Formats: sequence, C-alpha cells, structure tokens
Amino acid sequence: MRANESKTGAMEEEKENRSEKLRQFILSQIKEKGPIPFSQFMEWCLYHPEHGYYHSKETRIGKDGDYYTGPCVHPLFGGMVAKQLSQMAEILGRENFDVVEMGGGRGFLCQDILNWAKKKAPDFFNRLRYHLLETSPSLLKEQRERLRPYEEEGKIDWMNPVIFEKEKDRIRGCILSNELVDAFPVHQVVFDRGKLKEVYVTHHDGQLKEVMGEPSDPALLSYFESIGIRLQEGQRAEVNLRALDWMEKVGRFLEKGFVLTIDYGYLAEELYAPYRRSGTLLCYYRHQTSQNPYEHLGEQDITSHVNFTDLIKKGEEVGLRFAGLVPQYRFLIALGILQKMDSLGQDLSELDGLKMRLSLMHLIEPEAGMGEMFKVLIQRKGIDGSPLEGLRDLHSIPWPTPPSPLHFLSGQRKDNEDGRGHR
Ligand SMILES: C[S@@+](CC[C@H](N)C(=O)[O-])C[C@H]1O[C@@H](n2cnc3c(N)ncnc32)[C@H](O)[C@@H]1O
Repeated sequence: MRANESKTGAMEEEKENRSEKLRQFILSQIKEKGPIPFSQFMEWCLYHPEHGYYHSKETRIGKDGDYYTGPCVHPLFGGMVAKQLSQMAEILGRENFDVVEMGGGRGFLCQDILNWAKKKAPDFFNRLRYHLLETSPSLLKEQRERLRPYEEEGKIDWMNPVIFEKEKDRIRGCILSNELVDAFPVHQVVFDRGKLKEVYVTHHDGQLKEVMGEPSDPALLSYFESIGIRLQEGQRAEVNLRALDWMEKVGRFLEKGFVLTIDYGYLAEELYAPYRRSGTLLCYYRHQTSQNPYEHLGEQDITSHVNFTDLIKKGEEVGLRFAGLVPQYRFLIALGILQKMDSLGQDLSELDGLKMRLSLMHLIEPEAGMGEMFKVLIQRKGIDGSPLEGLRDLHSIPWPTPPSPLHFLSGQRKDNEDGRGHR
C-alpha cells in the first residue's frame, strides 16, 4: 500500500468515526426525549459543536470539499460585488462605510472585495471597514489566516454573534451574505389528507427514520396562509423559520444602508409549485448531490432553496425597502463581468485562459450554472431609491464586441494559485 493510500484510508476511517459519534448522539437524544423535528436533526448535523459539518477541520468548500460557491469560482465574483458596494457607499455619502459579511466561509469574498477596492477604488477602500461574522470555529481560523494582512492594516475585524443578536441601529453600510440563508436548518412539512404535518426524526432498531406529527411550532400552521400558498395533497416542503428571524435581526441591526443577499432559491409561488412535490432539500458530499440526509451524518452539507418572498416580506415589516431581486447572471453582467472577462487573458497559456473563462462562465450561465437559480436580493433602509448598478436593465448596458472564434483562447492571470481550486 502506498503512503498516500494509507493516509486516505485513515482519513476515511476518521470520518466514519465522527459520523458514528454524531449518530449515537442523535439516537441518545431521541431515546431520551422522543422524536425530534427535522430542523433539530439538521441543526445537529451542520452545527453540533463537536461533530457538526461546519465544526470539523475538514475543507468543506471548494475543489477539495463538497461543493463550490461563487467566491471559490473566481476572484472576479468578489470584484463585481465590490463594485456594487462602492456605488452603495457613494449613495450613502462621505462617511465611513461598514460591511458586515455574515457566514463568510473561507474568507475569499472578503479578500476579493478588499483587493478590488484597494486597487480600483482607493477612496472607497479608505472609507471601508469590514466586519466578519462567522459561527464555524474552523472557518473562522481559516479567515483569520487568509486575511491577516488586512487585519494588521486595521481594515477588518471579527464580530461577536451576540452583538448581532442583541444590538440595534449598529451599522451604516451594507449587510452582505453569500449562501448563508440556504445553510439555516429548516422544518420539513407534508400536506397530508388536508392537514399540515411535520417531519420528525425517530429511530427503529438503531436506524434513523422519519415519522409525521403535529407541527412543533405554531408559526408553521399560519406560514402557508401568510404567503398565500396552498400545498397539494402529499406535497413535501421546507419552511425556513430561521431565515425570518435572521431578516428581522438584520433590519434591526442596520441603521442606514443596504442588505445584499446572494443565494439560490425562488419566490414562494415557484418554490412551492405543485411540480416540486418533494421539496428542495439537497445534500452535498464530494461534489455529488443526494436527497438523503440520513447518510454521511455530519460529513455532508444539507441545504434547501431560499424563499425570497419571505425575505422581502419580512424585510418590509422591519423597515427594509425592496430595491430589487435579479438572477445572479444579470447582476454580474450589469456590473460589467463580460467586459472584464474580455480583458482578462494576456499572461496565461491558451489552455489556462480557456479554463479560466469556462469557470467564469459558470457564474453567469443561466441554464446549467449558477446564473439563473442564484439570485441577488437588495434591500435598503433610510435612503432614497437611487438606481443601483447591479440591478440595471441589461438592455441599457453596452455589450462587449462579439467574441471572435479564438476569443476563449487568450488568457491572463494565474488564478488557481490561492488554494481555492476553481471549477
Ligand atoms: C454555505 S457556507 C457559505 C460560505 C461562504 N459565504 C461562501 O460563499 O463560500 C455557509 C456559511 O455560513 C456560516 N453560518 C451558518 N450559520 C451562521 C450564522 N448564524 N451566522 C454566521 N455564519 C453562519 C457557516 O459556518 C458557513 O461558513
């Protein structure tokens, strides 16, 4: 057996041990307290302080992990977000501009935003103060290592989650997140013989299994009526009550400025459409998806699509005015990603140039990539309705000259050197 084969074997064993410990913990809780709502099961799988997915030292995001996110694909993603933030800062006036990034993961988005601002918009960079709020200890550690130069410059700090939970009118700037809300634990419900039932997790002969029961939270009973949705008989769906709570806190925390939320999901009518009979719960393990949350416990990501109607409606209730909701491809194109792609490409080999462009295409490809299913929601508080660049109508945008057949074969930067391992 070769050395790296035995290392891989040992790592596999370690994963299985961790998974088994989590399974034993969940079983003991069920034995003690009875069946648990699916949301509690998901909470432990992702965030159990010892065995949860986001609490282990393993790389979860990127090539060596289980899934990619926009910031892992290319620094240009963060560059375009930075461009939008700098326009928001202009709208806000001459004061300092605070960005609070929640759930920043490996810290790439923060790094790319600050790099872009430093290079392209020094005035904005001078006014910018960046605060990260991250609940995973291992990702927090990685952020600190990656972003040390900016910490030493006094540009960034880490915010205690308690401050966000408790305080009011704290931020003048923007509250930013990418793929945060889809990672909140969700309740699962089924419309069964004309009644809403909740999915609980129990066990039988040591195996985890589902049972249906009465909703554990009264908010579930009024939820669908409040958004004007009637599920079909037998239809299963997720309800992200945590997202509502989060939005309420965001509205309270922001004194003046914007909320920029990037995530995958739909408005309620589409999210709960009759053809989506099994909901949108999805698990990611080594870049493979499955709908089975009961395997690889604590070793696979579990997510569900975001209900943007919830975020918009709750936002309005807490003083956040709706500015716009657009697919990610529109946001990035409106901010000039195509022109940037066009100009990238002098120093790379033909093959690297092609690879880089193909990975970037993934961010904006409407059908197969992240372009359409991912959305950008912008809300504002205490400022007028000045048009935002990222929400512009694409008809108003000057398009780059049509590419020649050799367009994709010129390249520029070695973008694969920072460990994120692009697509
Ligand atoms: C799907 S990952 C996205 C990471 C990163 N934004 C990216 O795009 O690569 C979700 C992130 O949210 C963090 N997270 C989950 N719940 C959180 C909370 N309540 N507050 C702050 N961070 C949270 C997780 O630890 C993880 O870093």
